Amino acid sequence: MAKKTIQDLDVTGKTVLVRVDYNVPIQDGVITDDNRIRQSLSTIEALIEKRGKVVLFSHLGRVKEEADKEGKSLKPVAQKLSEHLNRPVKFVPYTRGQELETAITSMQVGDVLMVENTRFEDIDGKKESKNDPELGKYWASLGDVFVNDAFGTAHRAHASNVGIASNVDDVAAGMLLEKEITFIGGAIENPERPFVAILGGAKVSDKIGVIENLLDKSDKLLIGGGMSYTFMKAQGYEIGSSLVEEDKIPLAKELLEKAGDKLVLPSDFKVTKEFSNDAEIRVAQRDDFKADEMGLDIGHETLSHYQSILEDAKTVVWNGPVGVFEFSNFAHGTIGILKSLAALENTTTILGGGDSAAAAISLGYEDAFSHISTGGGASLEYLEGKTLPGIKALGEK
Ligand code: 3PG
Repeated sequence: MAKKTIQDLDVTGKTVLVRVDYNVPIQDGVITDDNRIRQSLSTIEALIEKRGKVVLFSHLGRVKEEADKEGKSLKPVAQKLSEHLNRPVKFVPYTRGQELETAITSMQVGDVLMVENTRFEDIDGKKESKNDPELGKYWASLGDVFVNDAFGTAHRAHASNVGIASNVDDVAAGMLLEKEITFIGGAIENPERPFVAILGGAKVSDKIGVIENLLDKSDKLLIGGGMSYTFMKAQGYEIGSSLVEEDKIPLAKELLEKAGDKLVLPSDFKVTKEFSNDAEIRVAQRDDFKADEMGLDIGHETLSHYQSILEDAKTVVWNGPVGVFEFSNFAHGTIGILKSLAALENTTTILGGGDSAAAAISLGYEDAFSHISTGGGASLEYLEGKTLPGIKALGEK
């Protein structure tokens, strides 16, 4: 890629400001998914090895008023990071001020420091989220160079990514951001073919931009999950009580017309009368839904068909589960897709972030893919073909 990376930086003895995305789920003070922390380790370790002083910035959740701060301190994240790095991480419970500045100027080469949640600056006028020029400039003044490794935040133009970048001369991508650009950017711009995309998830409306862009770029687009039913209704099928977005039916018709046989819909489904793991299950063909039945997973016939398409693929991008995988009785389709992707050799397999990444990790397939994206909204926008402000703000080589 033409963007600067940390290989292009001399950080010896320098204070390196690093934007990571540690917006991780925390329940009762316990981090329930530390994927984003683990995926940031290579960059931090490389900067330590290159004899830099590492100052980390991240947001956590959304903060509008003082009361929202509760449970959103990055302190437990600093502790978890310290365990993974096997070295101390100094946590500073401020986003600005004397204590933060003194803590940074007292750092030695190889030290790691974490600043408090950047969105605590949103309480007073959304300074972080509105990319307040004074805030970006202030944070930039705390260091010498800037490394952006927060792919998950790359679709935001905030003070802690774009703001710092525009006030520092040397700006580079961290190793995680570089990996995301290589895999997702590579698939969108120059995929090895056949290029197959699998799109699932509940709503067509969440994925319109992605469907449109991937219809253009991919060789086959396989649809699963709740959005299948809006497409089926657009084709004139009865879908019982399945999830549907009535107002998106005209759009679904348009997409179907434009796509021809590139867009593939499920032919059979696991249907039930209640949204529950324990409800009785029947396999229905697409023209055989009863009025009180809802589809919660793809059926065996569809899975085999999709698997046969995937076998020939050289690049696969997957975003969104194809069934309600949280219910074990409706996880068969999602697990089947995971298994076939894991078995592909010589194929670049990319999981978009969000639910499909969570499904892969929770079902034990974390290491089976070329890349599991750490982005939710950022992956979607990147797959839509949009320019992400966090990536745009990186320095050119
Ligand atoms: C995410 O989790 O998608 C990113 O961290 C961005 O978070 P945000 O939607 O609160 O900006």
